[in-house]
Amino acid sequence: ARLPALLQAMPKAELHIHIEGSLEPELIFQLAERNGVRLPYASVEALRSAYAFSNLQSFLDIYYAGASVLLTEQDFYDMARAYLRRAVRDKVVRAEIFFDPQTHTARGVSMETVIRGLHRACEDAQREWGISAALILCFLRHLSEEDAFATLEQALPFQGQFIGVGLDSSELGHPPEKFERVFARCRALGLHRVAHAGEEGPPAYIWSALDALQVERIDHGVQALKDEALVARLARERVALTVCPLSNQKLCVFPDLAQHNLRALLDAGLCATVNSDDPAYFGGYINDNFLQVFAATGMTAAHAWQLASNSFEASFAPEADKRAWM
Ligand code: ADE
Ligand code: ZN
Repeated sequence: ARLPALLQAMPKAELHIHIEGSLEPELIFQLAERNGVRLPYASVEALRSAYAFSNLQSFLDIYYAGASVLLTEQDFYDMARAYLRRAVRDKVVRAEIFFDPQTHTARGVSMETVIRGLHRACEDAQREWGISAALILCFLRHLSEEDAFATLEQALPFQGQFIGVGLDSSELGHPPEKFERVFARCRALGLHRVAHAGEEGPPAYIWSALDALQVERIDHGVQALKDEALVARLARERVALTVCPLSNQKLCVFPDLAQHNLRALLDAGLCATVNSDDPAYFGGYINDNFLQVFAATGMTAAHAWQLASNSFEASFAPEADKRAWM
């Protein structure tokens, strides 16, 4: 079969998707209208034309502004349902979805509103469309350890409704070890742990995500190839990297997709996966990421099967489900 057809049709897991980054401009305007929120953009087109980024921070500023239209449980439900519907079309059979509660609780939205809306969308999608979906609560690393602990406290009444914790937002200047005690507590609570590291930041941040935070996966991790000893460890321990090619291109982590190191990561024996990160902002959902990075780097059907298999291996789904998908 043609490679693009294989990439689109193969079952896969998506392990790195920020639900607030799936909010399309059309839905941002619809929710702004519904909630009486004023936006600093005149139209969908004006908003979309602001999506020209030079680095991670230039994106985050616009991404947090977009999330300001989310107020009610129904808003969170509608956002997650739209993503899950789209993921099903891309043959995603398992989605592990990040959410950023501090972006919402800081605006007076309750933790209960956020988690109930997202979780209900996951349950309904599983029942109606058969997709397996779970939530991962991310701490914003530009905020304090104290704020992260308070956020964890607020989330604990809903512990059955998320499977783990992550670490995202501005990487440079906010090394993983800032959250060592928070992650130790999460580990004791039996939560899964992941962290963004080595997106813009150095290999040292990947080492400390592994050693100080004891994470089970690294989000992005593309800077790992700069450190031979780190590559050897990631390969030996089968630590997955949740790579996001279009995100890396749009945030200028690589000058263009042809320079992306996904193929080199796989060829080094690492458990790399393909994901969309913030699909509404970076020009594509998971299959767009597969299609474009394969076209740009000349990867083969063997790479495609490896990436799909890696995505299931790296997922936090029940082992029986993983075996059935692989
Ligand atoms: N939040 C949403 N997308 C992100 C990314 N790519 N890196 C860090 N934080 C994020
Ligand atoms: Zn991310």
